Amino acid sequence: MASVPDIFVKPAPVAPHAMFPRMYVIQQVRKETADTFTLVLEDRSGGPKIKFAPGQFNMVYVFGVGEIPISISSDPASSVLVHTTRAVGTVTRVMAGLRRGDAVGIRGPFGTVWPVHEAHGHDIVIVAGGIGLAPLRSALYEVLSQREAFGKVVLLYGTRTPSDILFREELEQWRARFDLEVYVTVDRAQPGWRGNVGVVTTLIHKLPFDPQKTTAMICGPEIMMRFAALELQKRGVGPDSIYLSLERNMKCGIGLCGHCQFGPYFVCKDGPVFRYSRVKDLLVKREI
Ligand SMILES: Cc1cc2nc3c(=O)[nH]c(=O)nc-3n(C[C@H](O)[C@H](O)[C@H](O)COP(=O)(O)OP(=O)(O)OC[C@H]3O[C@@H](n4cnc5c(N)ncnc54)[C@H](O)[C@@H]3O)c2cc1C
Ligand code: FES
Repeated sequence: MASVPDIFVKPAPVAPHAMFPRMYVIQQVRKETADTFTLVLEDRSGGPKIKFAPGQFNMVYVFGVGEIPISISSDPASSVLVHTTRAVGTVTRVMAGLRRGDAVGIRGPFGTVWPVHEAHGHDIVIVAGGIGLAPLRSALYEVLSQREAFGKVVLLYGTRTPSDILFREELEQWRARFDLEVYVTVDRAQPGWRGNVGVVTTLIHKLPFDPQKTTAMICGPEIMMRFAALELQKRGVGPDSIYLSLERNMKCGIGLCGHCQFGPYFVCKDGPVFRYSRVKDLLVKREI
């Protein structure tokens, strides 16, 4: 008898109640940039507090509009749930108009995590493009909470323009630390900008890290992640030590519907965080 591909025999990974949203109320809304906002959420369901690991996402339901995957950008050690979202379409634009006291439905946390524990003893290189800093912020919080476990820690962050820079206050605090190197670059400068201009990948060649013992985590537009991975490899970082977070359209978020299929993987349960060596051949294909 022909063998059944592994993907069809995996059991559903999460409990059935994973399809029921829990009610969360918005405690705080922060406008980050012209099109990006942060919601701080409080659990009103009465159930146990959500525990998540950096890299995971929630399915956020805007009542009457739709449900979308959004990464958790809070500190895993804190009790609040934070989502930072760019308004790009139907659901996110309505979400951008929500105010303190409004409710959303939350399912999650789902998905794979950034390899913070596996990286102990290594240098850490975090490469974020645009809204990609949100999913990586949780990882950086966790790394900084165990700072002595790592060698050098480098954050490289690129945006389109200076007005698109997220989490400005935190970036300034991170920059002021002696145990963290922060590089910010923009594609296009604006009046008053005295920082670096150029795409984020052009800075990788001069970053201080030991390629033989570096773990890299990348999140941003797919093309930027591909080029960042190539630049890191040129520096000698192995494809097994590079991780990236992928985005695909999602419906169930738990490996049931197939909407997020990417080659042999379901991004919602096999990802969103993947080892680069597992997906590099799929990333260069036009249609999967
Ligand atoms: C695991 C995962 C984590 C995610 N985390 C975050 C996060 O932390 N913050 C965040 O802002 N987004 C995040 N996203 C992306 C987010 O889910 C989408 O932006 C959202 O689903 C768009 O829904 P919409 O109804 O507003 O737009 P739609 O109405 O579905 O799309 C409208 C238009 O916007 C375009 N569009 C859709 N998504 C994007 C996008 N990501 N970037 C640019 N254009 C887009 C579409 O091509 C379409 O033309 C994540 C996605 C995944 C899979
Ligand atoms: S979103 Fe349904 S299988 Fe991934």
